Amino acid sequence: MDQVTIYLRRFLPRIAIFLLASGLLGASLATAETIAVIGTGDVARALGPEFAELGHSIVYGSRDATQQKVVDLVTKTGHGAYATTPVKAVDGADIVVLAVPGMLVKTITEGLGDLSGKIIIDPTNPLGKDENGFFIHRAATSNAEIIQAAAPGAFVVKAFSTVGWRTMIDPDSTGGPITIPLVGDNEAAKVTVAELASDLGFETIDLGPLRHAAYVEGMLILWINNRYAGGQPFEYYLRKTPRNES
Ligand SMILES: NC(=O)c1ccc[n+]([C@@H]2O[C@H](COP(=O)([O-])OP(=O)(O)OC[C@H]3O[C@@H](n4cnc5c(N)ncnc54)[C@H](OP(=O)(O)O)[C@@H]3O)[C@@H](O)[C@H]2O)c1
Repeated sequence: MDQVTIYLRRFLPRIAIFLLASGLLGASLATAETIAVIGTGDVARALGPEFAELGHSIVYGSRDATQQKVVDLVTKTGHGAYATTPVKAVDGADIVVLAVPGMLVKTITEGLGDLSGKIIIDPTNPLGKDENGFFIHRAATSNAEIIQAAAPGAFVVKAFSTVGWRTMIDPDSTGGPITIPLVGDNEAAKVTVAELASDLGFETIDLGPLRHAAYVEGMLILWINNRYAGGQPFEYYLRKTPRNES
């Protein structure tokens, strides 16, 4: 199937439904998706069960699905979730969440096979440390662009990289609204990810194309250095202002 056909089959119905729903109902109308969550660490344990609660079908991709932590996660997720190899997990998925170590995204993405037509949600951060012990951004470009290059037919959306896993589970626990910045080159994919984030209780803002991803990843560098230095804790809330039409 060529890229145009994949795009039309996947996104036109979604856009139509979304526009209709937001115009007529003023509310999000998320489609039930099959979501492959690759990795079974903190982010997977946060997002997987939350997405399952929303009615999505969850399949975890693990290097070893027999690990006790994976068995426990599948049990906790319920709703028919299961775990398998990463390659099998992505096979029937509409959406792939790459909840994996930030410095391994190229290898891990390449190992997943053909991801054409799928939305990849990228919450990763390419974290390193400098000689003074401060966290730094270690990608020459950004993780999101590295993932897109490794899966050229997929629609990569950077999302959830700027919040901690506890906040992913319960945004309200922070005492106010939180914004998930979104960047990506496919508008319809960003709409889908915005719906998912909204359904989890977040606000979202579209900050443009994937080439802006390094700036979004930089937001986490500020957040984590502040946290480990014992600074005033904060979360990102980007207040939307009226458009200046003049
Ligand atoms: N923790 C947070 O609060 C948070 C928040 C926002 C963004 N992030 C970013 O999200 C990504 C995932 O974070 P995380 O905290 O969930 O990481 P994590 O707890 O270390 O889990 C990563 C998972 O990736 C899988 N994996 C695949 N290949 C691996 C390898 N070679 N070595 C180790 N693990 C491998 C593992 O699952 P299997 O054993 O099942 O294969 C592992 O559980 C990171 O890039 C991080 O920067 C984290």
